[in-house]
Amino acid sequence: MKEFTAFLLGEQENISKALQTVTEKMPRSVQEIARYAFLSGGKRLRPVLTLLWYKLLENRNKITHPVLSVYDASIVLEMFHVASLLHDDVLDNAELRRGKTSSHIKFGIRPCLLAGDALLAMGNKQMAEFQNVRLMNIISDALLRTANGEIDEIALAGKIPASPAEYLDVIEGKTAWIIRSACEVGAVMAGAGEEDTAKARNFGLNLGMAFQIVDDALDFSPEEIIGKPAGGDLRERKCTPPVYMYLETLHGQEKEDFIKKFNVIPSPIFEANQKQGMDNTGFSHEELKAINQKIIDAKFPEKTRELAQSYLDKARENIANFTGSYANMLLEAITYVKERKK
Ligand code: IPE
Ligand code: IPE
Ligand code: MG
Ligand code: MG
Repeated sequence: MKEFTAFLLGEQENISKALQTVTEKMPRSVQEIARYAFLSGGKRLRPVLTLLWYKLLENRNKITHPVLSVYDASIVLEMFHVASLLHDDVLDNAELRRGKTSSHIKFGIRPCLLAGDALLAMGNKQMAEFQNVRLMNIISDALLRTANGEIDEIALAGKIPASPAEYLDVIEGKTAWIIRSACEVGAVMAGAGEEDTAKARNFGLNLGMAFQIVDDALDFSPEEIIGKPAGGDLRERKCTPPVYMYLETLHGQEKEDFIKKFNVIPSPIFEANQKQGMDNTGFSHEELKAINQKIIDAKFPEKTRELAQSYLDKARENIANFTGSYANMLLEAITYVKERKK
């Protein structure tokens, strides 16, 4: 993974600079939140994927701009990603992000929801500068699909998916589409033909699926490492693969009890109900801790990682015909996603 990680590290400064420049163009009212959310870390996987596909496919038909560079295009999906995190941490009651206090705790829920909207608008504006309808369509689809995935996930909270497809549809929307679009933007910026562009987006979609499956395994890792709350998925009643694997070990009354408690979704409204003396029929804090530990002891996070493999294989097929250093880095990106610890 040497070449990919060196590239990832080497491009951090250029990506941060592009994010800083776009932040300065934003309305003053959102600059502070944008700066906090952008500059508090993050792996920058999405812009790096745009850059790699761009460099792999760059040709004389590439899209140019008198002032803006490919870095300015590469950060658009990172802006959307960060906006989705601002919103997601409110939806998930998450108090930690990238190892720091979540923005909504620091600045308040309402300013963060609106700052998230402003980031989405600014990302659109920046991409519009390239005056390319195709690029605008790609990023608009990414936004629609991400929102749809998050909405479907809320609808599924507290429920046991009827089939794996229900879970897979959610993660395709909420995570894989932005990664797919990041790769596709790279190809289109490079001036690639239809066949290669399709490879870029298929690579991204499959890598993105694997990325979220691994994320659902990482949810059981210590928060000092992942930089976000551990065990949040069970607490928020997301039936991710490790949770589902645990459910499968239960039988009879025990299983029924689990399903009943899993169905009680914690929310501020629920807490308000509790204060008014209503019963808490959901999991207690201790129960959640115990179940999390059982999932870890049973190695369900490790088994979940294995589920990512078929997607990683599909991603790999899309770079099979390319050679050279950038193709190798994309190959290494697959290993990076498979093995990532945060
Ligand atoms: C977190 O994404 C949200 C998911 C899609 C799982 P990342 O793990 O890429 O977050 P950062 O950008 O590195 O913080
Ligand atoms: C990530 O889902 C998807 C989006 C942010 C749109 P998660 O809720 O699993 O991501 P983390 O775990 O909070 O990073
Ligand atoms: Mg979340
Ligand atoms: Mg998660």
